[in-house]
Amino acid sequence: MKSFLSSSSPSSFIALGRHRLVSPPYWLFILLLFMLFVSFLFSEDVLSVFQTLPRHPSKSFSGSSKEKQKRHEKLPFAIGETPEGCDVFSGRWVKDDSGHPLYEESECPYIQPQLTCLEHGRPDKEYRNWRWQPHGCSLRRFNATLMLENLRGKRMMFVGDSLNRGQYVSMVCLLHSIIPQGSKSMETFGSLKVFTAKDYNATIEFYWAPFLLESNSDNAIVHRIPDRMVRQGSINKHGNNWKGVDIIVFNTYLWWMTGQKMKMLRGSFEDEVKHFVAMETEDAYRVALRSMLEWVKENMDPKKTRVFFTSMSPHHPEGEEWGEPGANCYNQTTPIEDTSFWPKEASKSMMGVIGEVFPESEVPITLLNITQLSGYRKDAHTQIYKKQWNPVTPEQMANPRSYADCVHWCLPGLQDTWNELLFVKLFYP
Ligand SMILES: *[C@@H]1O[C@H](CO)[C@@H](O)[C@H](O)[C@H]1NC(C)=O
Ligand SMILES: *[C@@H]1O[C@H](CO)[C@@H](O)[C@H](O)[C@H]1NC(C)=O
Ligand SMILES: *[C@@H]1O[C@H](CO)[C@@H](O)[C@H](O)[C@H]1NC(C)=O
Ligand SMILES: *[C@@H]1O[C@H](CO)[C@@H](O)[C@H](O)[C@H]1NC(C)=O
Repeated sequence: MKSFLSSSSPSSFIALGRHRLVSPPYWLFILLLFMLFVSFLFSEDVLSVFQTLPRHPSKSFSGSSKEKQKRHEKLPFAIGETPEGCDVFSGRWVKDDSGHPLYEESECPYIQPQLTCLEHGRPDKEYRNWRWQPHGCSLRRFNATLMLENLRGKRMMFVGDSLNRGQYVSMVCLLHSIIPQGSKSMETFGSLKVFTAKDYNATIEFYWAPFLLESNSDNAIVHRIPDRMVRQGSINKHGNNWKGVDIIVFNTYLWWMTGQKMKMLRGSFEDEVKHFVAMETEDAYRVALRSMLEWVKENMDPKKTRVFFTSMSPHHPEGEEWGEPGANCYNQTTPIEDTSFWPKEASKSMMGVIGEVFPESEVPITLLNITQLSGYRKDAHTQIYKKQWNPVTPEQMANPRSYADCVHWCLPGLQDTWNELLFVKLFYP
């Protein structure tokens, strides 16, 4: 609300008014009150328009009136349209043994051992065989040739946490099989991973920045820090490494969920005595998302580039949510069928912050609203079938549920669908 006011014209009247109040004639004072009242009405009005937007994620948060004019202008990379009124994020899972998975785990050497479930002994395989069916239309099939042709001479980058890294690896797996051996490479430079398709002069990159802002969890390998702290106003610390990309896919969510207030650093991480404020998670998240939008405005050209944001990836630690008390994701082999299921965690206000902040963006941001569709997929997590950080203890072995990973997703699997949706939103917005 505050920032909205400061970017709309009525606030300049208020600011002007404040100076004159030193010695105000009464009529001026009344006029001021009136203006304040009008500006309040106005902002409420506009806010309520914004609040309706999140219910139409397919319109990709084109919130401001300027964006509304642009809605019918062609977005970069667009070659067609999704049928009017089809929200591709609203639908159901359909068993699809012939069409999915889109690649085999053993065919993609880039999947990190934390996500190769079959290799780590997962007994059931059906989690790979589901297709997302939107209610309003059918998804266009992911076309790797089309994707690579359009990435010719370009850079695509995923920025965020381990869930975004999963989506990144999925994208590389979806594309790499049509590139001959010797014409592709994968390199790591600190926080940056770069997959290069040499004949296309194209790169698909991942940059580790779990909070987007600078934080004490930024080391790409050693980042398991319980006492997390992010630095306010630091978006360029990482953002300098994202400049010049043509397609950027952000995510950030999981790391904010500490259950405590978030420490927002006001100085520098080098300061001996650190000056920070403890903020409500939601407020800190808002600060980070606004910084991201600022970076986007400064660095992304809406005529040539595209910006995506992947919404919260739900986890399944609590079977009670889907009517199976005491269970979690362990040993789950089928999706939740109740179409009204909505992950409890997603009702928290964090999703609301996205709906509140994104309409402020001057550059169109396409939300990949994967929260509900992933919420159905209690079967798609890595469970215990992954490379473990620490050796499994006998107690854990006796109770596998206790150490199941109900956050990350097996590959191939659910995250390939996220990329099928990214594909659709990129080419057929
Ligand atoms: C995401 O999609 C779900 C299901 O279609 C919808 O209920 C929700 O409002 C959407 N959220 C946002 C932030 O667009
Ligand atoms: C995939 O895209 C390429 C390049 O645009 C096109 O030639 C081909 O027909 C497409 N394949 C399918 C199955 O649509
Ligand atoms: C390769 O792509 C980069 C952008 O990623 C561009 O700057 C460069 O000019 C391209 N080189 C060739 C030979 O096309
Ligand atoms: C796994 O689920 C099956 C039913 O689908 C059940 O029979 C079995 O006991 C479960 N195993 C464990 C270890 O919970």
